[in-house]
Amino acid sequence: MSSSASSTARAPAQRHELELHGLTHAGEAVGRLPNGKACFVAGAIPGERVLVEVTEQRKRWARARLVAVLLPSADRVEPPCPYYGSEEPGGPPRCGGCALQHVAPTRQAAMKRRIVTEQLERIGRFADPPVDQTRVPATQGYREQARFAVTSEGQLGFRRRGGHDVVAIDRCLLLTDETQRLRELAGDAWIGVDEVTVRAGQPAGEPPGSGSAQGVWIVSPGAEGVPPVPDGDVGVALTSPRGPLALRGETTVTKRVGDAMYRVSAGSFFQSGTLGAAVLVDLVRGAAAVQPGDTVLDLYAGVGLFARALAADGALVTAVEADPSAAGDARQNLVEYDADVRTGPAEAAVAEMAAAHRWFDVVVLDPPRRGAGAETTARLAELEPRTVVYVACDPAALARDARALVDAGLTLVTVTPVDLFAHTAAIEAVAVFARHGGTATPMER
Ligand SMILES: C[S@@+](CC[C@H](N)C(=O)[O-])C[C@H]1O[C@@H](n2cnc3c(N)ncnc32)[C@H](O)[C@@H]1O
Repeated sequence: MSSSASSTARAPAQRHELELHGLTHAGEAVGRLPNGKACFVAGAIPGERVLVEVTEQRKRWARARLVAVLLPSADRVEPPCPYYGSEEPGGPPRCGGCALQHVAPTRQAAMKRRIVTEQLERIGRFADPPVDQTRVPATQGYREQARFAVTSEGQLGFRRRGGHDVVAIDRCLLLTDETQRLRELAGDAWIGVDEVTVRAGQPAGEPPGSGSAQGVWIVSPGAEGVPPVPDGDVGVALTSPRGPLALRGETTVTKRVGDAMYRVSAGSFFQSGTLGAAVLVDLVRGAAAVQPGDTVLDLYAGVGLFARALAADGALVTAVEADPSAAGDARQNLVEYDADVRTGPAEAAVAEMAAAHRWFDVVVLDPPRRGAGAETTARLAELEPRTVVYVACDPAALARDARALVDAGLTLVTVTPVDLFAHTAAIEAVAVFARHGGTATPMER
């Protein structure tokens, strides 16, 4: 071999046997390399002994590919989905939508509880945080909405694990039958389109069981516009800088959660499944325990999922939502109640209400992944709520905001992880805080 060839030859990848002990919030197992560096391994389970090949070296940590499981966990299962695949060269594609299909669902629930606990301990500095068992609404067939990327051949799919290229996916086990039907109707002729979101629901105004349950495709066009859209009675909306524009048919769907029907426009956020949404509503209602006439502030209210349930319990609700589309839906969804729906940022609303010495019996907040921020969260205490219910989609943000609330005088009463996204690394949690310490039951003001 010439010297120039040998100088460009790759060093052989390092292989190591590891005992795995920890877990990252992305669902990777953690072990230690012989040099003491933390090493993250996707597809493995804490407690396993594995052979790995290091793929990424950083100053303080490394990432490795699972080569073989030497001592498998009792919770290791055959992944139910063929797209989950392997990482072996030439092996089947590994869809990045899921991270935990190799783990029995009961262990997934336990792992997620542990992640929530560890984030509260490490980031929130809570000793022994009161984290309940994980609630699991469903382990398959639960998604009523899915955002597909598009391959260069126009097929719908999801991004490859750890990469940007798209794995074409015909059938995803996480989708409900209705959502899978929408994906099949969408076909695979979307060359040039960036993304297609399928959202199942009842067309607006039609009762459930009317036989015309449909949904909508929300299409993000690429630079060259939209190719011909497949025929059918599915509504089509195009994303635009000013929100989705209706291209064909009805693009607003109706969602049923418990007894309540919610109107959801194409541009509005809604939980990805109604089974999971119902579990969140139950937890929020239970913690809020509103008495008729109680005042409730619902921040980051979306289309009014929690606001409507609490209004139905007799609360006087003020809902705040930044997105005009979702706020418009919330107004419709709360039309039969004496509710005030404000369009605008929650942070400004809280600052204004605190400055005006307003108070609420209960505050509910369900911010996006970044959380509400320590400043806004701390100011909630000035509204003197007896109970704060915090619905979180990122345990790290919850931990930061929980610390701010507790430093402002509230007590963390309970945290319930909810596995809204079984088989993926995502975790939702509902945290309950009380004023005057201890309980979150109604108290006299
Ligand atoms: C996780 S969703 C929750 C929505 C609703 N609680 C539900 O469960 O359907 C977060 C919502 O916050 C809204 N949002 C994002 N940033 C906001 C802000 N700064 N102020 C108010 N709302 C915001 C989004 O538009 C979205 O509707």
